[in-house]
Amino acid sequence: MKFSNLIWAASTVCLVRALPKPNTIEKRSSGFYWLGCSQSGAEWASNTIPGTLGSDYFWPNTSAIQVLKDGGANIFRVPFLMERLMPASMTGKVDYAYMNALRSTVTFITGQLGAFALIDPHNYGRYQGNIITSTSDFEAFWKTVAGEFQLYDKVIFDTNNEYHDMDQTLVFNLNQAAIKGIRSAGATTQYIFVEGNAWSGAWTWASVNDNLKSLTDPSNKIVYEMHQYLDSDCSGTSPTCVNSTIGQDRVQSATQWLRSNNKKGFIGEFAGGVNSVCQTAVDGLLSHLSSNSDVWLGATWWAAGPKWGNYMFSIEPADGSAYSYYFPILEKYFVNGQTTPSTIPSSSIHPTGTTSIPSYPANTMPVSSTSNTNHQYHMPTLSTTSSSAEAKPTIPAVSSPPSTVYATGKSPANEYPGSSRTTSPPVETQVAQHYQQCGGTGWTGPTSCASPCTCTLQNPYYWQCV
Ligand SMILES: *[C@@H]1O[C@H](CO)[C@@H](O)[C@H](O)[C@H]1NC(C)=O
Ligand SMILES: *[C@@H]1O[C@H](CO)[C@@H](O)[C@H](O)[C@H]1NC(C)=O
Repeated sequence: MKFSNLIWAASTVCLVRALPKPNTIEKRSSGFYWLGCSQSGAEWASNTIPGTLGSDYFWPNTSAIQVLKDGGANIFRVPFLMERLMPASMTGKVDYAYMNALRSTVTFITGQLGAFALIDPHNYGRYQGNIITSTSDFEAFWKTVAGEFQLYDKVIFDTNNEYHDMDQTLVFNLNQAAIKGIRSAGATTQYIFVEGNAWSGAWTWASVNDNLKSLTDPSNKIVYEMHQYLDSDCSGTSPTCVNSTIGQDRVQSATQWLRSNNKKGFIGEFAGGVNSVCQTAVDGLLSHLSSNSDVWLGATWWAAGPKWGNYMFSIEPADGSAYSYYFPILEKYFVNGQTTPSTIPSSSIHPTGTTSIPSYPANTMPVSSTSNTNHQYHMPTLSTTSSSAEAKPTIPAVSSPPSTVYATGKSPANEYPGSSRTTSPPVETQVAQHYQQCGGTGWTGPTSCASPCTCTLQNPYYWQCV
């Protein structure tokens, strides 16, 4: 079965499962292609490599994603760490346990829910603590990762989270190298979200990142991902917003830049504290983006995730600090105002792009002085934040997959030479049928799936044939 058929089949099931929600806010068509949130967790404790799943870092809770999707969200940004995925080097081998978990999350989002998964190496342009300077290594990294997802038409590639304090030409070259690696892996239909220097801030984008307008993509599917917080220093570290219009104020120049350069943009991170000034400012931001949806394709709130505790921006259902306050604001702008899951044919959402491919630009842009204030680090290392202080339910580490795409009996090293993996999982004799459980904590039932399904991790407690 081709993957597109899988999506169709899964979506049909989701339609049946979707529960009607009370319509407290009148919905309208936002003009967006995508609106959703980040699903933060797998990138946590970046100072602890590789770290321990279940205590240092966490994969998203698929049940929570389901709730958000049922409410109308259609894109989920999934941060991960490059060092956990490729521990030795960017040209080295993939850690297949981490890759399996990333794939499971992505498979749930795209294959089961029919939503988009924006995969995000949350590395700030750094690898193993150093600014990435080798474009060929970065290209190789992306070729490997994109090779894993080349058949996932609803995966979107985010080249890297928030480059900052880097040579501006290097930021250009890294983005171009990522595009080259992704396309050369055969992932030619998916969107690529490029980020900019100075923490990818929208408010400084036009002055800092102007050179990125010369990036080229043979598939013409570049989207410029910018981030924008609304507190005084744009860092996303305070629940106080400057004023009620600061949302639209801070992205105006980026809107102009996109339009004058005939580009498409996306706000990959935004948030505000739980107070009326911020709520108006966030609504104003979304309203501005929506009114300019010829250039703005959507946005993802920062952030949902299973372990935020009382983090001020948490939109994790149902008790995240910002969930009940901000989800109704997002609902006003969800794609088509719909609350039922729908599969958007990728062919219908391509932004118009130029058909001729500009020649590769000379690197003539000056290095800009980057002010670092767009976005300070606003993610907990678990040992130091309030969210870690509260009692945490124990999530058991994910034990060996009962039957996975990699369970061929070969060693990981043999099994996993980067993007060249083409072998199919072995056919075993047990038979869990489509959508049935095939593993998880304490599971004693069948651990293989009837062809053509794959036993897929949905959460540590539940593996499912999809
Ligand atoms: C996952 O999300 C569901 C739905 O919001 C929730 O009921 C459940 O407690 C969550 N599980 C964990 C481990 O956070
Ligand atoms: C909000 O703050 C911005 C930046 O200081 C300013 O340009 C704008 O006029 C302010 N808006 C209001 C309503 O005061």
